[in-house]
Amino acid sequence: MSDLSIAKPVLGIESSCDETGVAVYDLERGLLAHRLYSQIRLHAEYGGVVPELASRDHVRKLLPLVRETLAAAGLGVSDLGGIAYTAGPGLIGALLVGAAAARALAWSLELPAIGVHHMEGHLLAPLLEADAPEAPFVALLVSGGHSMLIAVDAIGSYRLLGDTLDDAAGEAFDKTAKLMGLPYPGGPQLARLAESGVPGRYRFSRPMTDRPGLDFSFSGLKTQVLLAWQNSDQTDATRADIARGFEEAMVDTLRIKCLRALEVTAARSLVIAGGVGANKRLRAQLAQAGQDKGFRVYFPRPEFCTDNGAMIALAGALRLRAGQLDGAGIQVFPRWDLESLSPLEPESDAVTEKY
Ligand code: KG4
Ligand code: ZN
Repeated sequence: MSDLSIAKPVLGIESSCDETGVAVYDLERGLLAHRLYSQIRLHAEYGGVVPELASRDHVRKLLPLVRETLAAAGLGVSDLGGIAYTAGPGLIGALLVGAAAARALAWSLELPAIGVHHMEGHLLAPLLEADAPEAPFVALLVSGGHSMLIAVDAIGSYRLLGDTLDDAAGEAFDKTAKLMGLPYPGGPQLARLAESGVPGRYRFSRPMTDRPGLDFSFSGLKTQVLLAWQNSDQTDATRADIARGFEEAMVDTLRIKCLRALEVTAARSLVIAGGVGANKRLRAQLAQAGQDKGFRVYFPRPEFCTDNGAMIALAGALRLRAGQLDGAGIQVFPRWDLESLSPLEPESDAVTEKY
């Protein structure tokens, strides 16, 4: 097996849910190419992701996307130095498609490969940008499956400060959209609708901000919206006004908890990542809070907030460089604790000497 040369790019594969993402990332040259195929249309008629359909579509799309991405980077498989794939958390069948393809490629090309934690991918996505954060920092990870506040002491060394007790932030966006009749996937559509809503016509509570702690709970907020919608005239204008009230409550709650987490950890940098990190109001409010209170805020560009292959290629490249490759077995983890990850060795000459 050839060692990962830091001069060689890593192929990243993301297939944990309803998006097939592929990218090539080079630790020295940055992101060389990335491609994304979204299954949204496939699942739309069912109102949510159908796991078996997701797996089958990953099977259909993954290898053509790998070819397309390599071509876009102007590379052949022999130019690669390693392979990274999402090993969890996520839908088991969808994860297995990416893991099996990645392992088979690694085996046939005699390359090192590593299974990446999807949420670590999200958390490290801001490192794809020119203005990248440096640990220690606090990360707000808000996606369809998670709402977490993490203390990042170093890359790979994560402490969970707060978690969701029920619905994740993205899930709350999606369910709220659905109950007001918006088609799947509702989160981004609800956010778009909120832009035209009248501020202040509907005001919902900021859950769990009136007591200490960093956990989240959004199911009550969703119920408040349901009642408001059921008792309304259900016109398009009212839908937009309720969407506005919901988004403001959600963003305000996340902002309050982020400020609290920064205070508890004494960190001076905040990273926002995961699909809800693409939300314009959240980005604007936290950027403003950073200016007011004197901390730095880092976001990935919106397309790297939602699922993508670039974040997996980057996280995998860092771990492969640190010598962390897995065995040849195909293993995935539908549930996987972020705190259980092993820390990355500090980037030092000792690490590079291994190669
Ligand atoms: O990170 P992601 O692509 O997938 C998961 O790992 O879950 O996050 C998807 C979630 C969905 O719930 C979607 O509704 C939400 O992110 N989302 C948004 C926006 N864009 C995506 N929520 C609010 N505003 C947005 N602009
Ligand atoms: Zn995700």
